[in-house]
Amino acid sequence: MEAFARLGAAATKVGIGADPDDTLVLWEDDELSLLTDADELWHELDEAARAFRKTLPIVPLEAFGFPGDDHEDPMGEGSPFLRRIGSGVEASAFQSVHDGSIYKFYLPREEGRIGGTFSFSRATPADGLDAPALHAEACLGSYRDLLEKLALILALDGMPTEVVGVTPEGVLVAKQVLGERLPEGEDVSELLPGSLIPIPARFLRAHRDHPRLAFVKGRPWFVADTHAKNLVRDTNGRLRVIDLLAAPFPSELAAQDPLMHDWLARVALDPTAGLLQAAHDDEL
Ligand SMILES: Nc1ncnc2c1ncn2[C@@H]1O[C@H](COP(=O)(O)OP(=O)(O)O)[C@@H](O)[C@H]1O
Ligand SMILES: [Mg+2]
Repeated sequence: MEAFARLGAAATKVGIGADPDDTLVLWEDDELSLLTDADELWHELDEAARAFRKTLPIVPLEAFGFPGDDHEDPMGEGSPFLRRIGSGVEASAFQSVHDGSIYKFYLPREEGRIGGTFSFSRATPADGLDAPALHAEACLGSYRDLLEKLALILALDGMPTEVVGVTPEGVLVAKQVLGERLPEGEDVSELLPGSLIPIPARFLRAHRDHPRLAFVKGRPWFVADTHAKNLVRDTNGRLRVIDLLAAPFPSELAAQDPLMHDWLARVALDPTAGLLQAAHDDEL
């Protein structure tokens, strides 16, 4: 994430846009060799690109046993090493025949987007007086959003996950430890880790299951979609997240609602803090 942020900042300084960030994620590390002596800013961009490439290599689909990139549906039939086990909205998941690990291939979508995130808006008077103050809407994300989501799975003690690389077509590849899937439709709301704080429905509306708030190193995140299909049991029988949908929690928007502002401040200190502040005895 740090190397990607450095690359984004260096690109911005020479006037190269970082949104969408698909051109950055696929930047060849020798793309600038002729320009790198031009001046300090170009030099920094070149250095940043090389440093980033070391953390996220470009790996062809053939390396996973898939047919070449001129094939109509390169990942369709699986490969000699990878057996398809699932495909959701964001990723196609395969299991390695060698060690059982899961490989996920996130396909790029239109306009340089990939994966998913949320956009947020405040309720308008037209929504009525009882409408929740915040509205979360799922939307396509950036590469940065996707990398952050994978990091968030780790931070929430989800299944160990590692980014393997990106293919020349922009398919992001991640590897994850295999878990035991849950019965389809199992109600997991009582089983989710305590670090995922339920958000009172009066504060936020999202047409997604399990809308939660999570703090990672003090930074608030909005997390949803931790339903049975996105959870597994590890070899110790412990429930672990394998997938979720998330976005940085829009603290500034939320703070415009005094009650939510107050609630956020309290759950930041104590995830079990309820909706209303407990009154002190001497105030009663
Ligand atoms: N680590 C894993 N262990 C077992 N099954 C998995 C694992 N990762 C993914 N799967 C299976 O593949 C499906 C899709 O993977 P997921 O990461 O949820 O991608 P998507 O973003 O497409 O929903 C999951 O619902 C699950 O059935
Ligand atoms: Mg999923």
